Formats: sequence, C-alpha cells, structure tokens
Amino acid sequence: MQKLTYLLIPRAGCTPWHRHPLTAELERRGRHVIAVDLPCDDDSADLGTYVDTVVSGCRDRQGARNLRWRNLRCRRVGGPDDKETPVTDKLVTNLLHELEPVVEQNLERHLAITKDWNPHDYVPWSEGRDFAFLGGEDWAPEQSRLDPVAKVAMITNLLTEDNLPSYHREIATQFGLDGPWGTWVGRWTAEEGRHGIALRDYLVVTRGVDPVELENARMAHMTAGHVVEKNMLEAIAYVSFQELATRVSHRNTGKATGCPIADQLLARIATDENLHMIFYRNLVAAAFESAPNETMRAVVNEVRDFSMPGATMEGFARNSVTIAKAGIYDLRLHHDEVVAPILRMWKVFERDDLSGDGAKARDELAEFMAALDAQASRFVEQRARLRERQAARAEV
Ligand SMILES: [Fe+2]
Ligand SMILES: [Fe+2]
Repeated sequence: MQKLTYLLIPRAGCTPWHRHPLTAELERRGRHVIAVDLPCDDDSADLGTYVDTVVSGCRDRQGARNLRWRNLRCRRVGGPDDKETPVTDKLVTNLLHELEPVVEQNLERHLAITKDWNPHDYVPWSEGRDFAFLGGEDWAPEQSRLDPVAKVAMITNLLTEDNLPSYHREIATQFGLDGPWGTWVGRWTAEEGRHGIALRDYLVVTRGVDPVELENARMAHMTAGHVVEKNMLEAIAYVSFQELATRVSHRNTGKATGCPIADQLLARIATDENLHMIFYRNLVAAAFESAPNETMRAVVNEVRDFSMPGATMEGFARNSVTIAKAGIYDLRLHHDEVVAPILRMWKVFERDDLSGDGAKARDELAEFMAALDAQASRFVEQRARLRERQAARAEV
C-alpha cells in the first residue's frame, strides 16, 4: 500500500519548526511529510521563487507522487483516544508539600552561587543623548549600528522579557506565595526584571532600535499578556526547557550583535537563565521521585507542545524564521542544546519506576525525540541549500 504524503506549506513567517509537532505525529502514523521552508526573509523572492522552492522541496523527498492537498491546522499532538494520567488537585497539594524542602534547598543553593549585578553597569551611557521631546534629535534608522538579524533577535528577546507580569502571575498561581515557594517566586521575578531593564536601556541609549516602535510593540505584547493552561507538573517541566531555551537564545544573540558590550550584557543574562533552569530542572527531578508517571506525562506534553514564551507577539513567526536561519535559535539547537540535555539529566529513558500511562508517555517521548532529531537535520539541510541559492544569486 502506498503511503500518503503530506506537503506542509507554511503561512507567512512560519517554518518547519512551527509545524514540528504535527510533522512528528504524521510520521508516527506512517505518513510521508514534506515540510518546505519558504524564503520569506529574502525580499527579492517573488511568487515564482516560492513555487520553485516548494517544487524542489518535493523533488528532494520520496513519496511526492502521492501528494494530497489538505489545509492542515496545527493542533495538540496526541488525539482524543489518549488517556492521560490525571493530575488531581490532591496530587498537586501533596506535591507542593513534598517538594517544599527541595524548593528551600535549591533556593539556598541559588542564592549562594548567583552573583548580584547591576543593569546600569552594562549600558554605555556616554553614547546617550536627548530625543526631540527634550530638544535633541529623534531616532533615525541610520543611527543603529546593530546587525539587522541581531536587531530582530534583541527585540524578540526584550519583548519576551517584558511580559514578566504574566509569567509572575502564572508561577504565583501555580506555586503560591507562602514559604520557600513564595520566596522563589519573588526572587525569580526580581532577577527576571533586570533582564528587560538592561536590554531596553542598552537599545535606547545606543539608538539600536526605533524606541517608538519598541514601545508600541511592548504595549501591544503586554496588553495581550501570556496565558497558558498547564497543570503544576507541566508548568515546572515547561520552565525547565524554556529557561534553557532563553539562555541559548540570549547567548547566541549576543554573539550575533558584533558589539562586545551587548555580547557581555547578553552573556550575563544568559547566566541568570541557566541558574533558573537548574532550579526548575531539580524540581522536576524531585517530582519524578514523588509522582513518576504523572511527571513523565507532563514532560512529554511539554516537549511535544513546546513554544517560546514570546510566541504570541506580533511578527513572532516571521522573526523566528530570521532567528532560525541565522542559527541563533533553531530546531537543531532546540534538540541538541535544550531538550536532549535536560532529558538526560532526568534519566527519563533509564527509569524503572514507570508503569501504565507513564511508560506509554516515555515511549511517545522516545518516538518524538527521534522525529525531532530528523526534522532538525532536514531543517539544517534546507537552510544550507537556501544559503547556497542566496550565494549563487548574489554572484549573478
Ligand atoms: Fe529573563
Ligand atoms: Fe529566567
């Protein structure tokens, strides 16, 4: 019997990365998937270029003869038949109680190794001058020395940090404000607050971006807020991955700026994100000991459904294409430097205490990680081909 092949053509700004949960699920069900990547960051690309890209993407993969055109929408992978282990209020209450000593221990550890720093130290104030409102000169594009890709990445990172009130609400709701849980919520929020302060000060003082556009984007993004529906185990699994993803993104953005001051600032922020990741990662490790099956299900849910916290901002899809194509944050980094290392730390595939839905979730995770790895390789190959085509066009 011939396998069906699905050709996934992105909407404006999407990449294969945005469809990886759908791709993985289709491949799990034995379908061929061709997820093409359109050259939407190439302003010279016209409709013909897009068509050529789709056609050559089909030729590159076997099974293209059996294409069936469908308008597929991304959805949560799993399906209505999946019976997940329920995370009851009673379980959450017990976990909050059982994990309290772990929170206390990791809070002490965090405070002992973290180094306090001041956002103002990382900003070149001598480059600052008044804007027109105070008799100076308003921003103009030629004032920015930032590389265009680094600019996109810095704006994306800053707007993501800006939504801190939403993130605070989420973890305060999940963890509560009592005891060590509440102390962590406050401390984490204060540390995250530095990131947005320092990034904004740097960008405005150096005139790296249009401050009016930046403010308008901040207003829109914060007004929309960040709303997620996760149980407590999913929440701590998600932030483990998210903090490390943010670390990688900040670190690589710093390198892409070509500015030693910005690089230093973003490296400093990335160090904070790494310590946050360790805190949450240790919490999940402890949750595995208390509730292995429920924690395993939470982990697979978050790995399959992962999206960056800034994914709701306007233009995020298009900007994430630019960021992925520059290698600042892409599917290969997501697999190799974010998800796989954390799963190794939790020893998820070596656990012998899983049963029922927990064991099923672990098997699903193994399948998903294999598919994610394959998808990452395809993305890297597609990016290399795109760069070759762009280099060839540049020579003409
Ligand atoms: Fe941050
Ligand atoms: Fe963080």
